[in-house]
Amino acid sequence: MSSPSTPAGDVVAALGAHRLVPVVVVDGADEGACLADALVAGGLPVAEITLRTAGGVDAIRAVARTQPDVVVGAGTVTTADQVDAVVDAGARFVVSPGLSPAVVRRAQDRDVAVLPGVATPSEIMAALDLGIDVMKLFPASVVGGPAAIKAFSAPFPDVRFVPTGGVGAANLADYLGLDPVLAVGGSWMVDKSLVAQGDWAEITRRTAEAVALAEPPGTSTGAPTGASTSKES
Ligand code: 3PG
Repeated sequence: MSSPSTPAGDVVAALGAHRLVPVVVVDGADEGACLADALVAGGLPVAEITLRTAGGVDAIRAVARTQPDVVVGAGTVTTADQVDAVVDAGARFVVSPGLSPAVVRRAQDRDVAVLPGVATPSEIMAALDLGIDVMKLFPASVVGGPAAIKAFSAPFPDVRFVPTGGVGAANLADYLGLDPVLAVGGSWMVDKSLVAQGDWAEITRRTAEAVALAEPPGTSTGAPTGASTSKES
């Protein structure tokens, strides 16, 4: 399991501190650099860049180079070779939609955090067997949402989840209010259509809104650039 004294453990701790993992589809270095700037302006130096475009790895590399303080990871990683590619590009964590022992082992070999996707008790047990105690719950809304997390936590009290899939501004507090939830993931902050339009200001606004919503009550330090109190998702 990840320990806070390892690079992987430090990244898990950072995800737990920010509590939000934007799941992003960007293509190439230019979009990657713009994305990083928009997220930082919104107060969230975290990005999961998915391998759903030809330029996903280039985008990861650009974020790692232009904004080294951003905790950049790779999503939609399904093979061990992809783990090597994204780690070589600078990814500090790897997210998978499901549980692949090959992906988990390669990420562990490369000393990066890995969050495999789980949706059932058997998958949680298989992940635990691989030394994983922080898992992506996917697709969170389909497998039962917050109620599923409560149910899974009875037999697995030491597992921490990053629910992803169907999470947005309207319901993220329902997830973040649960102790087993380390952070939530989702695409709503960096919607694909906003990237296509180059609307980085709206991405910053949604990010700042999410950051404000994710802060525990009474800890607000003031709204970053683009903050809004509106409650859209
Ligand atoms: C993912 O890739 O993790 C999900 O597609 C994100 O789900 P969302 O689009 O519902 O946030």
